[in-house]
Amino acid sequence: MDDHAQAPRPPLRALAERCHFAIGAAVATQPFLNGEPDYCALLAREFNVLVAENMMKWDALSPAPEQYDWSASDALVAFAARHAQRLRGHTLVWHNQLPAWLRERSLSRAEALRLLETHIKTVVGRYRGQVWAWDVVNEAIDDSGDYRRTSFWFRHLGPDYLALAFQWAHEADPDALLYYNDYSAEGISPKSDAIYRLLRDLKAQGVPIHGVGWQMHLIEGWRLEDQHRRNAERLRALGLELSITEMDVRLKLPPDAAQLDGQAESYRQALSFALDHCRALLTWGFSDRYSWIPSFQPGTGAALPFDETYAPKPAYHALWQTLAARVGQLHA
Ligand code: G3I
Repeated sequence: MDDHAQAPRPPLRALAERCHFAIGAAVATQPFLNGEPDYCALLAREFNVLVAENMMKWDALSPAPEQYDWSASDALVAFAARHAQRLRGHTLVWHNQLPAWLRERSLSRAEALRLLETHIKTVVGRYRGQVWAWDVVNEAIDDSGDYRRTSFWFRHLGPDYLALAFQWAHEADPDALLYYNDYSAEGISPKSDAIYRLLRDLKAQGVPIHGVGWQMHLIEGWRLEDQHRRNAERLRALGLELSITEMDVRLKLPPDAAQLDGQAESYRQALSFALDHCRALLTWGFSDRYSWIPSFQPGTGAALPFDETYAPKPAYHALWQTLAARVGQLHA
């Protein structure tokens, strides 16, 4: 072997660990359960925190009343343990991806309370000590800054379900970090103001909430602004930690080199911010081969750091260089 061969560059996780930072990705069900070799090898090599894209949602875990199918989520927990990776749990309470047997029932308040408590304590209890952080409540505030009143849980329980969900999760695993997670709330807006007030009031009531997830599903051209710092500072002042939980930067297809470079700059700025203000940065998937975006945002895609062939894009190199520079600063 040529002894001048380029030493393999350390993966993202090796650099992140030297910064005491968590960098990760959401795991797509199909390539993971099929054990797709390139997919699983990259997942183990590059990341020190994982989250299930769909495997731990209510519809995936409990397809029938009082029945749970743990096969997929147990496989992910085992994979993360085998590769010394932390796990984020996503998500306990959400208005989407509820199983048909639940969302089609008309429940009394008491029945809704019992079902929600049982689900949270069953799931969090099973993975007690194995899940680092849970997205306990996802997307409870609508884009206007009001409660999402159409949510199944709001319709049955009013706003009470928020505090109860966090309390039940804390009872089931006192050591898990409990997050509120939402989208389009990174800057200063009526929505992020409402989330700030909600979390301020819940914390004041003694509700066990530890962190806020900024999903960061971004459109090309996104750049960091002072409003992001101001929002982070007011949330941190509540005693909450911050994580970027679902980042992707969608591009109009097919992207040209300038678009890919612009995407890389979005990733670089987000990670540079996260290294100063956040516990973790996770992307929602890691390869353009498996991304929610093309089917949900037609005409856009190519949103992730690796392309469909698992080749690193400029966005990956931007993440790598940002972490390497921080390691250099820390160990100068
Ligand atoms: O499991 C069924 C399968 O049985 C069926 O054959 C197939 C075709 O109908 O659908 C499968 O369910 C799909 C599910 O993903 C699992 O693949 C749903 O149709 C599809 O709507 C669902 O999309 C997910 C979406 O949440 C649902 O809103 C995406 O994969 C997932 O990436 C996305 O993730 C959300 C986060 O949880 C919360 N933040 C926003 C983010 C993007 O929407």
